[in-house]
Amino acid sequence: MGRSSLGCVAQLTVESRPDEVRQPDWAQEPDSAQRMDQARRLLGSAHRLLILTGAGVSAESGVPTFRGPNGLWRTRRPEELATPQAFQADPRLVWEWYGFRRERVGACRPNKAHAAIARLTLENENVRLVTQNVDGLHELALEEAASDGSYPAASLSRAEPIRLHGSLFRTRCTGCGDRTLDRHPVDVDSEASLPRCKKCAALLRPDVVWFGEGLDPQILQSAIAAAEAAEVCLVVGTSALVHPAASLPLLTKESGGVVVEVNTEATPLTDVAVVSIRGPAGKILPRLLPV
Ligand code: APR
Repeated sequence: MGRSSLGCVAQLTVESRPDEVRQPDWAQEPDSAQRMDQARRLLGSAHRLLILTGAGVSAESGVPTFRGPNGLWRTRRPEELATPQAFQADPRLVWEWYGFRRERVGACRPNKAHAAIARLTLENENVRLVTQNVDGLHELALEEAASDGSYPAASLSRAEPIRLHGSLFRTRCTGCGDRTLDRHPVDVDSEASLPRCKKCAALLRPDVVWFGEGLDPQILQSAIAAAEAAEVCLVVGTSALVHPAASLPLLTKESGGVVVEVNTEATPLTDVAVVSIRGPAGKILPRLLPV
């Protein structure tokens, strides 16, 4: 397996945001229609396609991204809230933040980018979706697309995203490890009011991967396999600073495939991509994906 790009970064790690990411004036470029055509051709002819999404795919649904002008990390440093150490030091504060995010995300609906991806994955068994997002909007889009009963259960389960970083709407017990779906509001009044395991009474934590923690090895392995098998890796709405997710497109490239990027800004992957399309995912993807 061509692991050279992943190296030893099976743990969640973040690169610092480059001071100067190349920011060409895309609006002035005369070849943006050509780029769309080129990307459409690549996507349309790929026998195996991997779509890798990040927070940007949910931005038009009203979910704040992590980095950037209105990013969630602008007022809080990741180390303050998204680490096992932070949870150990102040579980109430960490739950407060996750409770706020659950509430905010719970009010959001999938957008046209989620819908286009959902249709493509339901209709094409050679498309895999890998997401860093914990917001559940890809899953909701799948439910919406399949709500008329026109897709068999097998298509639905095959189209489920590979969730690299867990889910906002699941808890994990810090004692027995039990995982539960949980959409309830969190009572963050005091440490004593935080959610507890029904089986062993230990404190529950959000079932998300925090910085410095390892990703689930089976989940990571499926994502690596999909990246290596893909002829095209379409990367949508990620700053490509958090590993190992950001290394997956490099695996596709090392295995002989190509990378196509859709983002409102340039990222460290822009120079790796054979085509990079600048624009909001909700506008671009419905025009780009072959459904
Ligand atoms: N369409 C496309 N791209 C967009 C849009 C949009 N409408 N809006 C924003 N973007 C882009 C931004 O330009 C940025 O590159 O989405 C990206 C969002 O980047 P981040 O906020 O860093 O999110 P992401 O890359 O998903 O973060 C990765 O970091 O904090 C951890 O675990 C968390 O999964 C998360 C991981």
